[in-house]
Amino acid sequence: MKQTTDFLKMKEREEKIVMLTAYDYPSAKQAEQGGVDMILVGDSLGMVVLGYDSTIPVTLEDMVHHAKAVKRGAKDTFIVVDMPFLTYHLSVKDTLINAGKLIQETGANAVKLEGADNVLEHIEALTNAGIPVCAHLGLTPQSVGILGGYKVQGKDAEAAKKLMEDAKKCEEAGAFALVLECVPKQIATTITNSLSIPVIGIGAGMDVDGQVLVYHDILGYGVDRVPKFVKQYHSINPFIIESIQAYIADVKNKQFPEEKHTFTMKEEELKVLYG
Ligand code: KIV
Ligand code: NA
Repeated sequence: MKQTTDFLKMKEREEKIVMLTAYDYPSAKQAEQGGVDMILVGDSLGMVVLGYDSTIPVTLEDMVHHAKAVKRGAKDTFIVVDMPFLTYHLSVKDTLINAGKLIQETGANAVKLEGADNVLEHIEALTNAGIPVCAHLGLTPQSVGILGGYKVQGKDAEAAKKLMEDAKKCEEAGAFALVLECVPKQIATTITNSLSIPVIGIGAGMDVDGQVLVYHDILGYGVDRVPKFVKQYHSINPFIIESIQAYIADVKNKQFPEEKHTFTMKEEELKVLYG
C-alpha cells in the first residue's frame, strides 16, 4: 500500500496521483482492482448514494459505516475519509475524538477536512496526534450555504490571493495533501508550484499533481447530470435499467427461471415423500 510519503515522491517525480471515490464494498473492490493510487470515502456519498441534495446531512456514523465497507473491499489501497459537516469545528478535542473514530473503527489511513482559517488548528492537532490530514480548498461543499451555491472559487484577484495563502497555511499546519476543487487553472497551477505537498485537483485543470473524481460521475451510475469538470467514461445506467426490464419481462413471460436455474429432488426421495 502507498503511504503519504509515496505521494510526496510522486509529486517530486511528476507522476500523476489518481484518486477516486468509493462508498461501499463493490466500488472499493473495483477501484483497487482498477489500480487507483488513493480512495476517497467522500461525504459526496450523501448525494450520490443516500440521495440528499447536499453533503450537510451526512453524519459521522454514516462515514464510519461506509468507510468500513470500503476498507473491506480495498485492503491494500490508501483510504482517505471525509470528516462530515460540523465534526471538526467545535473543540480540538472533539475533532480528535471524531477523527480517531473514523480511523480506528474503519482502518482508513487519513481524514479530509474542508477549509482553512479556524480549521488550521484542527489540521495541526490531528497531524500531531499521528493522523494524516488531507486539506480541501476552493469549492468546499459543506459551506455551500456561505458560498452561495456550487460555483468556481478564486476567480477574482483577492479571492485567488486568499486561496494561495490558505493553501500554504494548510501545508504549514501539516496536511500531507490538498484537494483543490473548482478553481481557475492558473490559480491551481500557482498553488501546485508553491507547495511541496501534492495538490489533487477536481475542476482545477491539468497542471496539478493529481486528479480526483466521483465514482458515480465517471460511470454515469445513478446520476442524471454531471458537472463540466467531470469526464464520464461510461454511462452504465441504461445497462442496469435494461437488465432490470429484461428480468421483469422474463418473469412475466415465464421465461425465467429455466430448468438450469432450478433444483430437483431425486425420484426415490419423491417416492418416500408422496408414496
Ligand atoms: O466528497 C467528495 O467526493 C469530495 C471530492 C469531490 C473531492 O470531497
Ligand atoms: Na467531500
